[in-house]
Amino acid sequence: MTIRIEPMRPADVTRCAELEQVLFPEDDPWHEVSFLSELAGPHNRYITARDADGRMVGYAGIALLGTADHPEAEVHTIGVDPAEHRRGIGTLLLEALLLEAGRRGGPVFLEVRTDNAPAITLYEKHGFHIIGLRKNYYQPSGADAYTMRRPAMAGFPQDGFTTDAEVSS
Ligand SMILES: CC(C)(COP(=O)(O)OP(=O)(O)OC[C@H]1O[C@@H](n2cnc3c(N)ncnc32)[C@H](O)[C@@H]1OP(=O)(O)O)[C@@H](O)C(=O)NCCC(=O)NCCS
Repeated sequence: MTIRIEPMRPADVTRCAELEQVLFPEDDPWHEVSFLSELAGPHNRYITARDADGRMVGYAGIALLGTADHPEAEVHTIGVDPAEHRRGIGTLLLEALLLEAGRRGGPVFLEVRTDNAPAITLYEKHGFHIIGLRKNYYQPSGADAYTMRRPAMAGFPQDGFTTDAEVSS
């Protein structure tokens, strides 16, 4: 299965909102307008993962923050169609975000539900460590979040933002 990672377009927000309903049913899933607002943020970078038919099977976004001297980044979201989990697509998306963050340098932060073992494992594999607990962070569920941090590292050695990759079928 070939997966293409490329920048998100405004036309993609309908499919993103559809996936959000499935992936985050308990935690105020983002609607189309939330994605449009994120896309408009000058410091945000959003990407999609598409299969060979062009169907979007995942999405992710990061904010590039701080200053040139003290850059930092914050992963805002990452999600993969449940029918395509465990094929390496989440890894491709996260690595593309980290490549983008690595261009500027600085640490990368994120929040993740304390009960989200799949995501925590994915993040730990990419150098993130738990540095704090935020009680009742997610609403309306009231679920707690871990704050995770990845120290400043170089980006991944891929050339450019658009990549094709083979994942398991
Ligand atoms: C987290 C998520 C994006 C991972 O996407 P994915 O495409 O399934 O991830 P990958 O196939 O690249 O998995 C990479 C690694 O993460 C870990 N992992 C992924 N799913 C896992 C699971 N269900 N249980 C345990 N570990 C898991 C594994 O270490 C896996 O490597 P392996 O398959 O070689 O063992 C996906 O589960 C998802 O969309 N979850 C719902 C949305 C979400 O929670 N997003 C994160 C919000 S902070």
